[in-house]
This record gives sequence, C-alpha cells and structure tokens, in this order.
Amino acid sequence: MNYLHHYHAGNFADIFKHFVLLELIAFLQRKDTPLAMFDTHAGAGIYDLTATPSQKTGEWKGGIGKLWESKAPEWAALLSLVQSINDDGNLRLYPGSPFIMAEQLRLIDELTLCEVSDGPMKHLRYNFGNERRIHVHQRDGYEALVALLPPKTAKRALIHIDPPFEQDDYARLYDTIPKALHRFRQGVFAIWYPVKTHASALPFVNKMRKLVGDDEKVLNLSIMTGPENTLAMNGSGMLIINPPFGFAEHMKPRIAKLEKLLQQN
Ligand SMILES: C[S@@+](CC[C@H](N)C(=O)[O-])C[C@H]1O[C@@H](n2cnc3c(N)ncnc32)[C@H](O)[C@@H]1O
Repeated sequence: MNYLHHYHAGNFADIFKHFVLLELIAFLQRKDTPLAMFDTHAGAGIYDLTATPSQKTGEWKGGIGKLWESKAPEWAALLSLVQSINDDGNLRLYPGSPFIMAEQLRLIDELTLCEVSDGPMKHLRYNFGNERRIHVHQRDGYEALVALLPPKTAKRALIHIDPPFEQDDYARLYDTIPKALHRFRQGVFAIWYPVKTHASALPFVNKMRKLVGDDEKVLNLSIMTGPENTLAMNGSGMLIINPPFGFAEHMKPRIAKLEKLLQQN
C-alpha cells in the first residue's frame, strides 16, 4: 500500500467530497434519532499543508486555496471548520474526513474509523483514540464494514467509503456493497470516486446502480473541473445510496456553484 493522502489533501476532489459529506450529515441530523457513522478509508484525519508532500504537489491551492478566498454562504460550514483549526487566520492545516465527521458527532451518535496503514493510523489513534464515541480500527475497511453492520447503537447509518483506487478497489466495492446492503438495507452510503472523463466514470456508476437494483435509491453527484482527458483526474464524484429525501434538489445548485469555483486554470 503506497498511497499517501498527504500529497492530495485539500485538493479540488477533497473539497467536493468533504462538502457533500458535511451537507449529508447535516441533512441526516435533521432527525434527532441516533446516527452511526463509518469512515472505511479514514486517512490521517488532519494534514499540514506546509509539509513536504503538500508543498511538492501544491494540489491544495486548486481546492481549499480557492475556497479559503471565497466567502460564499453555501460552504460556510466547511470553511468555518477549516478556520477552527487555523486559529491564527493563516491556512496551514486541512481536516480529513475523520476530523470532519468527528466534529459533527452529537451525544447520541457514534463514529467508526478504519484504516490499514501504520502512518495514518498513528495520527488517528493520537487524535481520536480516547474519544468514547469514536472507535478506531486498524483493519480492512471493506471487511470491517460487512462485519460491523448493522450498527449496534443506532437504526440509521452513514457510511463514507473513500478508497485510493490504486489496486482492486472497484472489484472490492462491487463485492462489498451488496453484502453491506444485505446486512443493512437502509444504510446511507456515500462512495467517492475519481473522474477522468464522464464516459470513463460511467461503467462504475452503472454497475453500482445495477447492484443496488433500484435507480431511485442511487444519487450520482459529480463535478468536472478541467478539460476531459483520460490521463489525469479532472473531476470528482460521489455516489450516494439511499440519499435522504430532498437531498438531490438541495445539492444540485450548490454543486454547480462549487464546480465553477473549482475550475482548474
Ligand atoms: C483517499 S485516502 C482517505 C482520505 C480520507 N477519507 C479523507 O477524506 O480525508 C484513502 C486511505 O485509505 C487507506 N486504505 C487503503 N486501502 C484500505 C483498506 N482496504 N481499508 C482501509 N483503509 C485503506 C489508505 O491508507 C489511505 O489512507
């Protein structure tokens, strides 16, 4: 496993993913019943944009760098979260999904974080290891998900799946999602995927729709931030299974605005 998210933290794809994730949590928390949250591919939880990996790629400049300059109310929640960890007003730290999800936990909610690599795991244990409502597992996220569903403490679950897509992640998703749905039909799954061209992302989206077996239960959100070509990631997508009622209509204008802001030069 060579993937190190530090090189990409805060890039346009992260902003899209974390914006959708935050909006989804807010929507689900409109109900005051407990919510179990899972982050199957957690990463380190927080990233220093001044450290060598971030500086080497500079990818964050096309993501959080742009958002930081934008005062639009639509992403005020994500921005204020980023501001909360950069309290001297200078952008240095960027939160990963574990931090974002942990910050949204209510007393009745729980969060399970899975990660396989030692480096990110050290940070996860340090930052979240002593939190009563957060469970940190060094464990394969796909296998853990099937084993841990249905949640013990809640009748509702939000499952964030954010693989590196380096090796067999598509195959593992095709294998895991039907099993996870079999264990917990009503789970809300938010699965991030990379987009090179619209056409190249279609087989994944169509296959997932087929596996779920009901188009109404699948919402596909995506942005394209650069000219389509098959050599690089020019867009970012999130496939949501069992989206809450009204979420698609809520997100569409916001996603369109975000896509404009994140256009790559
Ligand atoms: C894209 S990064 C996660 C970023 C994070 N979700 C965020 O938004 O801040 C993918 C992470 O998954 C981890 N990983 C790879 N395969 C895994 C697996 N089978 N189970 C759990 N974690 C895995 C990698 O070590 C890496 O830290």
